[in-house]
This record gives sequence, C-alpha cells and structure tokens, in this order.
Amino acid sequence: MKIISILQPDDWHLHLREGYMLDAVVQYSSKIFSRCIAMPNLTLPITSSKIAKDYKKEIQLKSSSKNFEAFIPCYLTDDIDLNEFSKGLKNSSFFGAKFYPIKATTNSSYGISDIEKLYPALEILEENNSPLLIHGEKISPDIDIFDREKYFIDDELQNILKRFNNLKIVLEHVSSEYGADFITESGPNIAATVTIHHLTLTKKDVFNGKINPHNYCMPVVKNEQDLVSLRKHVCSGNKKFFLGTDSAPHDVKDKESTHNIKAGIFSAPVAIEMYASVFEEEDKIHNLEKFSSINGADFYDLPHNSHTIKLKKDEWINPEFTSYNGVKIKNFMGGKKINWKVV
Ligand code: DOR
Ligand code: ZN
Repeated sequence: MKIISILQPDDWHLHLREGYMLDAVVQYSSKIFSRCIAMPNLTLPITSSKIAKDYKKEIQLKSSSKNFEAFIPCYLTDDIDLNEFSKGLKNSSFFGAKFYPIKATTNSSYGISDIEKLYPALEILEENNSPLLIHGEKISPDIDIFDREKYFIDDELQNILKRFNNLKIVLEHVSSEYGADFITESGPNIAATVTIHHLTLTKKDVFNGKINPHNYCMPVVKNEQDLVSLRKHVCSGNKKFFLGTDSAPHDVKDKESTHNIKAGIFSAPVAIEMYASVFEEEDKIHNLEKFSSINGADFYDLPHNSHTIKLKKDEWINPEFTSYNGVKIKNFMGGKKINWKVV
C-alpha cells in the first residue's frame, strides 16, 4: 500500500468563524495542520488588537491540538484606526491585513469602497514588512462574475504593485488562468494561495440549469481551461503557490436559502487528502509537500514545521454533513469516495 510522508502542512487561508460554528469545525483543521491564517471576516470584523488576541485565544482553547496556531490578519475598512492598526502589527496581534473589496463576498460589507482609501494602511504594512492578503475581485454591475479577478488585477492590483514596491502580497484563492499566469510572471513579492475546490470543480458544477449552492463560493469556480492551468502552476512546485483551503462553513439553512445563498465551501475534513489526489492525478505527488508545507512558510519567513504526517492510499467515504450542537454543514465531497487517508 502506498504511503507518503510530508512535513506537517499549514493552511494559509481558513475561515473558522466563532461560537458554535467554531466549535463544530476547528478540530478538522487543528488535527492536521500546524498553523493557519484565520480570516477576520467575523460577524463583526476583526479591527483591533484586543479582538484579534481574544479570537486567537478562543481558537486555541477549542482546538484538538494545543499546538495549533492561528494567525489573525486585521480586516481593513475605509475608516481603519491607523494608530491601532500600526500598534497591532508591531505587537504581533495582527498577522498582516486582509483587504476585502466591499460586498465582494461573505461578511465583506465593512470592506474597502475605494482603493485610494487603502493606501495609508498599505504604507504601514510595507514599513512593518507585514503581508497584505487580498480578496482579488473587482465588483461592478458591468463586470461579469467570471471576469472579476482579471479586472481586479488589471485595474487595482497593478496600481498597488506600482506604488508599493516592497509590499508582500498574497492574491488569495487565485481562480483563473489569467490570475495564475500573472502570479508566475510577477516579481518575488507576490504569491497566491489555491483552494482545493478551484483545483477540482468547474462552473458546470455550480451553474447547470439551476445553481448548486454547495459548490458556490467566491471567487466562483471557472472553466476547464482555468482548472487545468491552476493545476499546472500548483503541481509544478512553483514556490509562489501554496495551500490555503478557504474552507468556509455555512449552516445548510443559509446555503439552501432561496433569496441569498452564502458563498463558501467547507473542505477542511478532506482538504489535505484531496490535494494529495490532485497532485497524484497530475503525476506530481513528490511536489505536494512544497505546496502544503514549505512554500507558504518560506514566503512568510516562518520556520518549516518539524513534525511530519503520513498519508496512505486508502479509500473511505466522507460523511455528507458535519453536525454539532444544532449546527449542520454540508461537507465538500460529502457522501463521496476519498482516495487518500491521513494515518
Ligand atoms: O466563498 C467564500 N466564502 N469566499 C470568501 O472569500 C469568503 C468565504 C466566507 O467567509 O464564507
Ligand atoms: Zn476566504
């Protein structure tokens, strides 16, 4: 039986939520991953050191592994308190900052309305050598939902790059061939995370007669050509691409709502196993560890993890739902066969 061993992975883009939802989901990440970046788009966004510290503590308390460490970026708003922001970076309460364009995705209504409003915070990030994490979609009535990433790169990201030469940037959940090529061709200060759903789904899995809410996320998954290109970049071992699941749980009631379907896919219970399948399908399983455990740490100037985990080629069926204390979440690949298992 085939067994591989890799350095313990990190999840550099994760939604753990708060309260009951956090209780229900955190163990899936904390039993596999060593570190994570826990996204700050809670019901009330994380904009102060105090909230960030409390959230980090809450995650640690509820984790199955006491060594699981969550890094919390500051949620950037139009009227962010720059003194508080700077203080939070300096005392390490914040791990860089997250830029959500306003109304781009779940809990982004406090996001940035105009790119110019972001610049004072970016100066502070650059001074502190702290990373900017970006939800890279430009939202406008004239822009097709499938083109939002391309327009963001051309109209906004290029301006940020020109103005802030030394700023470290991560284009989160890169979802298109255009975006992945852009990352590969740009300088060393910009990298990207890639989700498992963008490596396995195409738009037919979401929009096929009627919408499948459980495969609906932001940025939306795209064409076959985009998927093939993402797989090529990621599986090549290119150090600019690293693991960020964007695992984003929602209660089934919110996913199956008729008027406002929440974007987000809960992949944490099968993430590392599914990434292994993708690398195996591309005949690049030897590059899995770079993507899952090395490239991200290197980009963020963090040490590599010292422990290893083992994955065995062994089939199992992923349960359809995660249910806990009244919370019910549809699992990504729920009810389906998974080919790798963590041992
Ligand atoms: O699909 C998504 N869900 N994309 C995001 O950017 C946010 C996330 C969430 O918080 O549910
Ligand atoms: Zn996200």
